[in-house]
Amino acid sequence: MEYVQLKNTDLTVSRICMGGCPMGGYGWGHVEEKELIDAVHIAMENGINFFDTAETYGLGQSEKTLGKALGSKRNNVVISDKFGVHARAGQKTFYDNSREYIIEACEGSLKRLGTDYIDLYTVHYRDGKTPLAEVVDTLNILKQQGKIRYFALSNISEADKEELKNCIGSFCAFQNEYSLACRKNEKDIFEFSSKFNMTPMTWGSLGQGILTGKYTADNVNFSENDRRSRDIYVNFHGDKLKKNLQIVEVLKRIAKEHGTTPSSAAIRFILDYISESVVLVGAKRPSQIADNAEASGWTLFEEELYELLRISE
Ligand SMILES: NC(=O)c1ccc[n+]([C@@H]2O[C@H](COP(=O)([O-])OP(=O)(O)OC[C@H]3O[C@@H](n4cnc5c(N)ncnc54)[C@H](OP(=O)(O)O)[C@@H]3O)[C@@H](O)[C@H]2O)c1
Repeated sequence: MEYVQLKNTDLTVSRICMGGCPMGGYGWGHVEEKELIDAVHIAMENGINFFDTAETYGLGQSEKTLGKALGSKRNNVVISDKFGVHARAGQKTFYDNSREYIIEACEGSLKRLGTDYIDLYTVHYRDGKTPLAEVVDTLNILKQQGKIRYFALSNISEADKEELKNCIGSFCAFQNEYSLACRKNEKDIFEFSSKFNMTPMTWGSLGQGILTGKYTADNVNFSENDRRSRDIYVNFHGDKLKKNLQIVEVLKRIAKEHGTTPSSAAIRFILDYISESVVLVGAKRPSQIADNAEASGWTLFEEELYELLRISE
């Protein structure tokens, strides 16, 4: 496994981070808790020591499953958790970065994970009103209390730049969507990581699964309990689907040349193209995470990288 030190921290993490969205048990079709737990164990066997979750994934279910899977191995890994989506049963969901909410959210997450500290605590979404400096103050209180070790941002854009200038060194990483199927954030990712000294973490790194090579124009019929059935998940619909399937053909050829799989080649593209990045990748079962871990330890040839850049333009 390849590792990287998160900026402004003493945390050394695997460049492949297991995403915990499917562990929420909601929105990804059928998942089995046993398979998810086995997947966490297989991830660790493959050298993955970085696990991502969020308060909002299955309204805390993802944190519970992750905590259960890690058990006594919790101190051997780095947990990335996220807050900011204020979702409570029977209430309207909204983005919230207020101090009161963050402190309450952190307590709940610690309890569900069964741990007394979160290594990396991430603002899932800005709430459009709480100044970033105030969020940093709140996070520093949690840090002083030993409840979190470091903090990060997610889904940031041009609009966050001004405030970030005054917080350089506070945030050690940021999560934005990026893959061969979604390169719209590419410029921001390069700019934010260098200008604000934060480790880039990419989510949706397999385009929510389309880049794995297992989907074709004829088998993208998702159940209602699968977010990808909705048009908003553009990777599986219309012209975008057609374009993605062309990218998959190139990935299949490249993967064959390297004796690996399209998923592994799609992840390798990000590892090679965005230096010192961490690739977040979701997995529903052990075989998927074992396959994704294969992206480590080799590199694409330069002409392959350029071919992938051209086809995904
Ligand atoms: N900060 C944020 O706002 C944000 C947003 C979204 C996600 N994230 C994080 O990033 C992680 C990754 O993103 P994502 O889960 O949305 O998408 P993703 O990693 O692009 O796709 C994950 C899905 O692809 C399929 N898959 C994965 N590996 C496979 C393999 N080797 N072979 C075949 N199929 C495979 C699985 O679904 P199927 O088997 O059903 O196809 C899996 O659930 C999330 O889990 C979450 O931790 C963060």
